Parts: sequence; structure tokens; C-alpha cells
Amino acid sequence: MKIAFIGVGQVGAPLAAHLAEAGHDVVLAESKEGSASVAAALARSKRLSSRPVAEAVRSAEVVFLATPFQANETIVRPLADSLAGKILVDCTNPVGPGLSHGLKSERSGSEFLQSLAPQAHVVKAFTIYGFENFENPSYPAYPVKPAMFFCGNDRAAKERVGSLINDCGFEPVDVGGLVQALHLEHMTLLWVRMVRAGGHSPNIVWAALRR
Ligand SMILES: NC(=O)c1ccc[n+]([C@@H]2O[C@H](COP(=O)([O-])OP(=O)(O)OC[C@H]3O[C@@H](n4cnc5c(N)ncnc54)[C@H](OP(=O)(O)O)[C@@H]3O)[C@@H](O)[C@H]2O)c1
Repeated sequence: MKIAFIGVGQVGAPLAAHLAEAGHDVVLAESKEGSASVAAALARSKRLSSRPVAEAVRSAEVVFLATPFQANETIVRPLADSLAGKILVDCTNPVGPGLSHGLKSERSGSEFLQSLAPQAHVVKAFTIYGFENFENPSYPAYPVKPAMFFCGNDRAAKERVGSLINDCGFEPVDVGGLVQALHLEHMTLLWVRMVRAGGHSPNIVWAALRR
């Protein structure tokens, strides 16, 4: 797939590298000149390239957004037309004071994002763990992969994102429409509060067990 990444810090960089190494055509968006994070991400894989943000988005089928939540409005509003019909993978989380929900749990960050780019197919994914698990999703002592819960309204978009989740080393678990994003954001806060504030190791993930 043709994929663009906006934001290649702790979250975007490892995902971009995994997808490039899996054979996808991955372009990193240069939103400012001399970005240290873009330079560091490019160094991860010879298969990665970078282009100005408008150009990167124009030529992509799937756009990953992995930026600080507060920056999303400034970044996405001007791109709304070029995002029409494309898949927008929302890796961002609105986090408020004291590790609370940044939109006071009244609305999900992903639904807000959808309002900025109404014709994009927003899929929330790659949010429920810390970056350590995006760097290395391998838990070799177990016969299952870590579960990656994801949601969105468009079935075809979710099928494609599900295959990207698989390429990044996770088991895709479709939890429903974008209305579920608020619950995923709370699930993220659960993990973050356990690990960043509660003393758990970051090497902890959820698994989907079925019978
Ligand atoms: N860290 C985690 O463990 C984790 C896990 C799951 C989800 N998340 C969520 O993922 C998102 C990214 O987190 P992160 O930890 O990867 O952040 P990060 O390491 O600080 O990286 C942020 C990236 O966004 C870019 N950026 C910042 N402002 C921008 C703007 N106005 N326009 C374009 N690009 C901009 C930065 O580029 P420059 O370097 O050029 O400024 C950088 O590449 C956040 O919403 C976070 O809540 C984080």
C-alpha cells in the first residue's frame, strides 16, 4: 500500500519502519525543515523516503497521524480535501491533566478528527499501548500475538488497516464503529496509568482469547 506518515516520533517511527520493511511504499511527511524526528526515522530503513506533507498525503492511500493531539487541528484541517476518500489512521490520544481524558470524555479524539476531515475514513488504531510495544511487539513465550483493538465506520478501510496491524506484529481485533473510539481512549489511559504512573512494566499487552 502507499502510506504516508505525519508524525514520526516514538509512535510513528517504529510503525513506519515495520511497514516499509514489510514491503509497503512508506513516505514520511516533512512538516518542517530540518525535523530531527524525520531524520531519525529515515535512518531506520533504506526503504523509507520523505516528501513535503501535502505531496506525501496526495500520493498516499493510507495516512497515519501520530502527532501530539493538540496539533491535530492545525495539521489536518488544511489537508481535509486531499484526505477525502483516503484512510486516516488515528494513532493519537487526547490526554488531559493528571492522565485524564483530554476531551473530558465527552467526545473521542477520533470523532473530533473525523469532523476535521469529514470525507476521510478515520480508523483509530495503534493507540492502546506505549511505544515500546510498537518498537517490539514480540512476546515469544505465547502462542498468540498481542491484540490491537481498532475501530472505524468504513468496513473496507478497516480491512486494509487490519492487514497493516498484522504486518506490524499484532492481531487485529475490530471492536466496531468510530463510536468505540472513546472507549479505546480510556483503554489507553488504563495502560498509561498502570505503566507510566503505577509501576507496571511497559512490556505488558492485552490478548484476545476465544472459545
Ligand atoms: N508515546 C507513546 O507511548 C504513545 C502510545 C500510543 C499513542 N501515543 C500518541 O501518539 C501521538 C504521538 O506521540 P509520540 O510519543 O510519538 O510523540 P513524539 O515522540 O513527540 O512525536 C511527535 C511527532 O509529531 C510531529 N509533530 C509535532 N507537532 C507537529 C505539527 N504541528 N505538525 C506536524 N508534525 C508535528 C513531531 O515532529 P518534529 O519532531 O518535527 O516536531 C514528531 O515527529 C500522541 O498523540 C500520543 O498521545 C503515544
